[in-house]
Amino acid sequence: MNKGLLVALEGVDGAGKTTQSKAIVRWLKKNGYAAKYTSEPTSVGAGKLLSKPGFTASPALEALLFAADRIGHVKRVIEPGLRKGYVIVSDRYTYSSIAYQGVILGDVEWVRTINKFAPKPDVAFLLDVEPRLALSRIKRPRSRFEKLGLLEAVRKIYLDMVAAGELIVVDGTKPPKQVTEELLAKLRPFLPNPRCR
Ligand code: TYD
Repeated sequence: MNKGLLVALEGVDGAGKTTQSKAIVRWLKKNGYAAKYTSEPTSVGAGKLLSKPGFTASPALEALLFAADRIGHVKRVIEPGLRKGYVIVSDRYTYSSIAYQGVILGDVEWVRTINKFAPKPDVAFLLDVEPRLALSRIKRPRSRFEKLGLLEAVRKIYLDMVAAGELIVVDGTKPPKQVTEELLAKLRPFLPNPRCR
């Protein structure tokens, strides 16, 4: 049985996921929790390939590679961490595939199917920022997905998942400290008591 807690942070490129995931992990560690930051795509195997500048693949192959990378991430990092009782904070998870590959392929259900072996997180947040603003925050383009039209469609799928109760929305347009406070306020009810050391 898992003792830890799996938390996922989602949002369009430029929403502030990395800053906020790391801030949450810092707060958790300061408050007595064993916590770990991790992110997708990972830097090994399929994840490494997907992150290579100039890498291209057909949309279906790309979706399979993101799913394969996730299976490796779960086996290598997430499950062992949860077994040890860690709060694992993942900067992107299955919902990124549902939103991005779902839009690109036009088949959200197939994307869900190929990701069905990734365990459901205990809590998943959408850091919601309007794509035009999110893109304006990106100084150096890093991803082939950083396009306004695509990110608008991606955001719509994320918001559908909020409406379905899969994601908890947090306004990502506020000052970073305030966003962290809101995330922590919404995360607290899910946290066990910190371990006494
Ligand atoms: P991103 O989190 O932006 O990585 P970094 O900030 O280190 O560049 O992820 C890279 C891109 O990959 C991003 O544009 C979203 C995309 N992506 C998917 O399309 N599907 C997925 O399942 C994942 C995890 C990411």
